[in-house]
Amino acid sequence: MKIGIIGLGFVGLTFASILANKGNHVIGVDSNKKKIEIINSKKTPFYEPELQKNLKNALKKKLIVSEKIQDVVETCDLIFVTVGTPMTSNGNIDLKNILNVCKNLGKLLLKTNNSPVIIIKSTVIPGTTVNQIKNTLEKNSKKKVGDGFGLITNPEFLREGKAVEDTLYPHLIVIGGINDKNRDKVIKFYKKNYRSNIPLVSTNNTTAEMIKYANNSFLATKISFINNISNLCQKTPETNIDDIANAIGIDPRIGKQFLNAGPGFGGSCLPKDLKAMIKFSKRIGEEPILLKAVEETNMLQVKKILEQIDKYLGKVKNKKITILGLSFKEESDDIRESVSIKLIEKLIPKQAIISVHDPKANENTKIIFGDKILYFKKIDDALKESQCVIIMTPWKQYLKLKKINFQKMRNKIIIDTRRILNFKDNEMTYIGLGIGK
Ligand code: UGA
Repeated sequence: MKIGIIGLGFVGLTFASILANKGNHVIGVDSNKKKIEIINSKKTPFYEPELQKNLKNALKKKLIVSEKIQDVVETCDLIFVTVGTPMTSNGNIDLKNILNVCKNLGKLLLKTNNSPVIIIKSTVIPGTTVNQIKNTLEKNSKKKVGDGFGLITNPEFLREGKAVEDTLYPHLIVIGGINDKNRDKVIKFYKKNYRSNIPLVSTNNTTAEMIKYANNSFLATKISFINNISNLCQKTPETNIDDIANAIGIDPRIGKQFLNAGPGFGGSCLPKDLKAMIKFSKRIGEEPILLKAVEETNMLQVKKILEQIDKYLGKVKNKKITILGLSFKEESDDIRESVSIKLIEKLIPKQAIISVHDPKANENTKIIFGDKILYFKKIDDALKESQCVIIMTPWKQYLKLKKINFQKMRNKIIIDTRRILNFKDNEMTYIGLGIGK
C-alpha cells in the first residue's frame, strides 16, 4: 500500500516518518520549498523530541519528500491531508490552504485512473468535509465521492512535544465517512499498522469533525476550571491548588490529567479550536455560554501574573524582570499563543527591562521582539541582577533549579506559575500561583 501525506507540519511529518518506519511506501508533500530542503537534509524544520531520529531512519527506508503532489495522486492508495488550518484575525478558521490542496487534488484526479481515498486529518469545523471539501474535489475532478475517489475524516489527537509517542501509540482512532467501502479501507490500514486494542470509532464525516472540537474544548475547559479554582486558592490562605487537583483527580469521573493549574493554555490548537467552536456555535444560533467562559478565564490568567508582579515588585519601570520559558509548553520551540509572549507584550509598554531564557524558543521569540528584550542561553545569566523572575514553562531544566541559582538576583522575588520549585525560605519571596498565603 502506498501512502501520500500532504502538509509536513507536526502531524504530517511525524505520521510520514512513523509510517515509513513501519514499512509503508510514503510520499510526503509540502509546498514550502525551504521545508523540503531541510527535510531532505535529514533535519526537522521545528523542534520535536525523537522526530529527527525517526525522520532520518524513514528517509533511509521508504519515505520520499517532494513539493509536487502529482505522484501522490497517480500512485497512492491513501492520501492524508495534514495541512494547517490556522486562525484568521477575526477568529474564524482559515480554509485557504486546505481548499487549495483539494482543488489541486481534484484537478489531478481528473487526469488519472487511480482511485485513492482522501483522508482529512486537518482540524476543520463540522460540516466542512461534506460541504466545502467534497464540492471542491468533485467540481475539479468531475468525479463523485465513492466513484473515482473516497473521502474520509480522520482527526488527529497528538500533542506537540509528544508527537512521536502519540503517533506510535494513539489512544483513539476516529474514522468518519459515508461510504462503507472507503471507510473499511482506512480501518484495514490502521488495523494493519497499529495494535489491535486501540479503540476505533467509526462514524460519519461531520461527527468525526465534531469529536475533534469537543475533545479540545473539553481539555480547555478542564484547564480553565482548575485555573479558576487556583485563583480562588490564591486569595484563600492555607489552600494549595495541587493538593486539590490531586484529590479531585482521584474521582474516576474527573480524572487526574489536565488539572495542572498555570498561566493559561497556549499553543496552536486549544485557543484556536476553542475560538472556532465559539464562532461555529454562534453561527448556528446556539449561545456558547460555557465555552466563552472557558476562553475568558484563559485570557484573564496573564492578568493574575501581572497582579502578583504589582503586589510584590510594584512599578516595573526600569526594573529587570526575568522570564523563564517562552514556548507554550515544555519540549517544544513553538511560541504560538504562548502566554509568555502575551506577558512580555504587556510588560514592554510599562518599560520593564526584560531578560528571557528558553532552552529552545529564544530564536522564535527574537522574530517577534527583536532587540526589545534580552535573550540568554544560560539561566544564571538571565537571572543576574534581576528583580523578579517569572517561571512560565515547566522545562525540566527549571525543575532542577536550587536556591543558589537565584543568589545573584538583586531582589529575590520568584513567581512560579507552575509551582515547580516550591521554595520555603525567608530570604526569598516565593509565590506559587494557586497557593494561598
Ligand atoms: C492539544 C491536545 O492536547 C491534543 O490532543 C491535540 O491533538 C492538539 O491540541 C491539536 O489539536 O493538535 P497541544 O496543543 O500540543 O495538544 O498541547 P497540550 O499538551 O494540550 O497543552 C496545551 C496547553 O495547555 C499548554 O500551554 C499547556 O501548558 C497547557 N496545559 C495543559 C495546562 O496549563 N494545564 C494542563 O493540565 C495541561
